[in-house]
Amino acid sequence: MRLWPTEIVKRAALAALAVIIPAWAADLDPQQAGVPAPQKLAPYVTSPQPIVEKMLALSRLKSGETLFDLGCGDGRILLSAAKNFGAKAVGVELSPSLARRATQSIEAQGLQDQVKVIQGDMMAVDVSSASVVSLYLLTDANEQLRPKLERELKPGARVVSLEFKIKGWKPSRVEKVEVHRHPYTMYLYELPQK
Ligand SMILES: C[S@@+](CC[C@H](N)C(=O)[O-])C[C@H]1O[C@@H](n2cnc3c(N)ncnc32)[C@H](O)[C@@H]1O
Repeated sequence: MRLWPTEIVKRAALAALAVIIPAWAADLDPQQAGVPAPQKLAPYVTSPQPIVEKMLALSRLKSGETLFDLGCGDGRILLSAAKNFGAKAVGVELSPSLARRATQSIEAQGLQDQVKVIQGDMMAVDVSSASVVSLYLLTDANEQLRPKLERELKPGARVVSLEFKIKGWKPSRVEKVEVHRHPYTMYLYELPQK
């Protein structure tokens, strides 16, 4: 079979693309590029509403400050921070369906100028603008998160963790509360003022 010169050029170009495209795609694949896959750091369990209010009060969240809820679930802490404390709030949630649910609640309440949800891995989100961080994770997760919080949070920022301590940090307050006959413990940490 005789090929026309244009056909030869076309086939050569296709052969080159067959090599280039997979290499380029591998470059774009975060896992192949060495970025760790997001890890599910805690199961989905909601904080009861009275606990949400108490955690935010314990953190001394003020109007105009920014709260980050890492692993925000259905967004209840974000909504309370905005509605009851006048704060801005950012939630980070790995589960696309929960992130969608939280976004829908924010929109339904017209709070989209004050509150936003990032669907993704909390380990990959910059938290340096937070005045307060709220956590309801697990001890191991808090341990993984601690170096990131130390690196990124500003002096004087507060971290409030429900049920699980942050090993290596000393809480400035520990509060125990019973809700629906279930005892809860809240830990407040404050980053040193430089
Ligand atoms: C115990 S729930 C707390 C939900 C909410 N903060 C509350 O107190 O009601 C923990 C949440 O963290 C989310 N999560 C787990 N690993 C995560 C990760 N790597 N990045 C972002 N969210 C994560 C889970 O999907 C779950 O919704």
